[in-house]
Amino acid sequence: MNKVTVQTLQESKRRREKIVALTSYDFTTTRLLNEAGVDIVLVGDTLGMVKLGLASTLPVTVEDMAYHTRIVARGNNQALLVTDMPYLSYQASAEEAIRNAGRMLKQGAHAVKLEGGSEIVSTVRALRRAGIPIMGHIGMTPQSVNLFGGYKVQGRPKAQQKKLLADARALAKAGVFAIVLECIPADLGRRISQAVKVPTIGIGAGPDCDGQILVVDDLLGLTDMPSPRFVKRYADLRRVIRRAARNYATDVRSGLFPDKGHSYS
Ligand code: KIV
Repeated sequence: MNKVTVQTLQESKRRREKIVALTSYDFTTTRLLNEAGVDIVLVGDTLGMVKLGLASTLPVTVEDMAYHTRIVARGNNQALLVTDMPYLSYQASAEEAIRNAGRMLKQGAHAVKLEGGSEIVSTVRALRRAGIPIMGHIGMTPQSVNLFGGYKVQGRPKAQQKKLLADARALAKAGVFAIVLECIPADLGRRISQAVKVPTIGIGAGPDCDGQILVVDDLLGLTDMPSPRFVKRYADLRRVIRRAARNYATDVRSGLFPDKGHSYS
């Protein structure tokens, strides 16, 4: 398979070929996702919740994201590698945004993702001028969880639908190469996908987005929090890992492991 680029993704939308995206935070998982032919690997700031034991994405730092980008980049050979800009790494000024985003590219990311609509358009333009491809993210944007009063579906009232459509258009005009649509009604996901030329990548935004993304730990059944409705589990790795560790413990405690076959003469 050829390397996926931002141009490849525009082509996929034009050809109506669905784009497959997953998050990843480490070397081994990234290798496996590449072997499976995933198009976009996102080093998401969900890192905070699924790997660092934090309660939200808000405390995740530029250091955390740079470190995980570096190790994901080592396992990535064909997917487009996108890194999330964590909270407060791009909101204060365009200059700070360029420095922090540039740092992710130096660690091996091909692009960065920013949350927000019309309010971040000038930052998107500044990043593009610095040669940095940007993925947008609107709808239920987790860095604004305190504004929303929780992780709730966005875009049900008419006024919100209008705002989200305007945000998607403004981001596309400013030059993002794709937009993540998170936790919005399926009908709005379809309307936004039809309204913009750049691909939309849905997570809880219905089947008519140009691609789909999930948090890899949710898909693999590694997370123990109750999953949102949009998550589909494709494996139950918590059970597999727990069972393997219990069997190992039983064998060690009973003297069954190591046996002759696992010892040197
Ligand atoms: O941080 C993340 O993992 C994300 C995806 C859920 C889209 O932003």
